[in-house]
Amino acid sequence: MSKKDVNRVVLVGTGFVGSSYAFAMLNQGVAEEFIMIDLNRDKAEGDVMDLNHGTPFAPHRTKYRLGDYSDCKDADVVVLTAGANQKPGETRLDLVEKNMKIFHGIVKEIMASGFDGIFLVAANPVDILTYATWKFSGLPKHRVIGSGTILDTGRVRFMLSDYFEVDPRNVHAYIIGEHGDTELPVWSHANVGGKNIMELIESTPGKSMEDLDGIFTNVRDAAYEIINRKGATFYGIAMGLVRITKAILDDENSILTVSTYLDGEYKEKDVYVGVPSVVNRGGVSEILELKLSDDEQAKFSHSVKVLKETMDPVLA
Ligand code: LAC
Repeated sequence: MSKKDVNRVVLVGTGFVGSSYAFAMLNQGVAEEFIMIDLNRDKAEGDVMDLNHGTPFAPHRTKYRLGDYSDCKDADVVVLTAGANQKPGETRLDLVEKNMKIFHGIVKEIMASGFDGIFLVAANPVDILTYATWKFSGLPKHRVIGSGTILDTGRVRFMLSDYFEVDPRNVHAYIIGEHGDTELPVWSHANVGGKNIMELIESTPGKSMEDLDGIFTNVRDAAYEIINRKGATFYGIAMGLVRITKAILDDENSILTVSTYLDGEYKEKDVYVGVPSVVNRGGVSEILELKLSDDEQAKFSHSVKVLKETMDPVLA
């Protein structure tokens, strides 16, 4: 896509995640035009009105308006948050049949508008719905991106920053794999200010590998804990979606653990899954292939296997 003066984002789904994303985009001033679509048009229109009234206090002018699928034609990014979300006791994979049907209809309508930009998928199970969006849309695979494990990576960086008492921006650690129960931490490449995390633990009194295991458990299960308390998660994922949108619209070449199509990388093929990927105005331009330990590779391949076993019967 060529660089344009006016960045246009279309959001499909103005539920908890979509509305939080729209609000976060206003506060960070990422786009010039923001169009909101939802089956519940009154809700979407109410959000549009409410957000526009906040623009005088925003760092950058963003014009919000109610739209329909024809508005996707000239969109740079279409963000898909529509669909059911996890209820207490539900896994993300439990949502696959319900949300696959919803996505099939939505993506066909969007493509009928002549949309030729980038899809950003943020409904669960996000890796499978991103694959489905690629299939349903016919767009090149690098222009269909899922939120992947960007939030999980954010969670582990937050928890490690708390554990080591350093700024999260100095913590470099990835969660990869399914955005879900089979995700895994890449401790072999994690570092704090450039110091490998294992060395840091060995050289810091009172720190232990067992603590790292506890931190990962808290990351993996964070959504369940939040859902049990407030019924849904939305602020963290909204911030992650803004991060990805900014990397696209500002042509950043940022490395983010989005859900990306693998064609042999990490020894896996024909699957969308969270891995470190270079994100810019063209979508995903490159996958950063880390050398995983044997244990990390085994866990990653298991994660891909679970995704494929869940997806294949539904997409067949
Ligand atoms: C979570 C949702 C976005 O992990 O899957 O909070």
